[in-house]
Amino acid sequence: MKGQEWYQEDDVAESYEDKRFSRGGRLIDRREKQAVLDALQPVEEKNVLEIACGTGRFTVMLAERGADIVGLDISGPMLQQGRQKAQATGVDDHLEFMRGDAARLPFPDDHFDAVFAMRFFHLADTPAAFLSEMRRVARELVFFDTFNRFSTRSIYNWALPMGSRLYSRSEVTRLLDDAGLQLANEDHDFVLPYGFYRKIPNGLASSFWDADQAIGGSPVGDNFASVSYWTAEVA
Ligand SMILES: C[S@@+](CC[C@H](N)C(=O)[O-])C[C@H]1O[C@@H](n2cnc3c(N)ncnc32)[C@H](O)[C@@H]1O
Repeated sequence: MKGQEWYQEDDVAESYEDKRFSRGGRLIDRREKQAVLDALQPVEEKNVLEIACGTGRFTVMLAERGADIVGLDISGPMLQQGRQKAQATGVDDHLEFMRGDAARLPFPDDHFDAVFAMRFFHLADTPAAFLSEMRRVARELVFFDTFNRFSTRSIYNWALPMGSRLYSRSEVTRLLDDAGLQLANEDHDFVLPYGFYRKIPNGLASSFWDADQAIGGSPVGDNFASVSYWTAEVA
């Protein structure tokens, strides 16, 4: 598993959000949060498991909106960031952070209404095993994102500290089939690379986002998106 050790470091956990979601990266954070809300709504009182929840960006947001949520991650330092955020936001009594391995989820079958993972599958050596475990504990819905093979990301992927596993649409649909999941919705985002957005000021990001959407919204645009969001129902 890529990143399992990387995210155990305190300084990596402390700088995680700042490195990715400051400046123009705030738009990436907003877009990812919207994708999670779109997939899970209505979230109020929904019983949700987030795997690889990291610093709790989505865990805290969903607790604020009334979901009954557990965030699980293998890294103590990442969870610590999440606990601090939950406390600062005043939702620490409304969620649970749990240290654990997504390969062996400590829950019975069909335990949650919905199970999701963001920015996780690009780290996974054995995506089929993780997806099958997510499916096992989900009663209705599974949601996750992937970084795409045919995208600008493939140009600079080799230069990233860990590289990323990149997926094609056909690979994802095969994984879903094998896990007993039925594709219910897909969304494709960000033709321009994330690294580009992180370098520009937040105020400029929306203008580039408009251009990005114009390209992404064209008939061939989906084929070049960097990230895809997959919503699947338990078959
Ligand atoms: C790129 S971060 C994403 C964090 C969060 N989902 C987000 O989008 O901000 C990847 C996370 O996966 C966690 N992780 C890696 N391997 C894991 C495993 N086997 N089980 C649970 N979490 C794992 C890491 O500790 C890290 O917090």
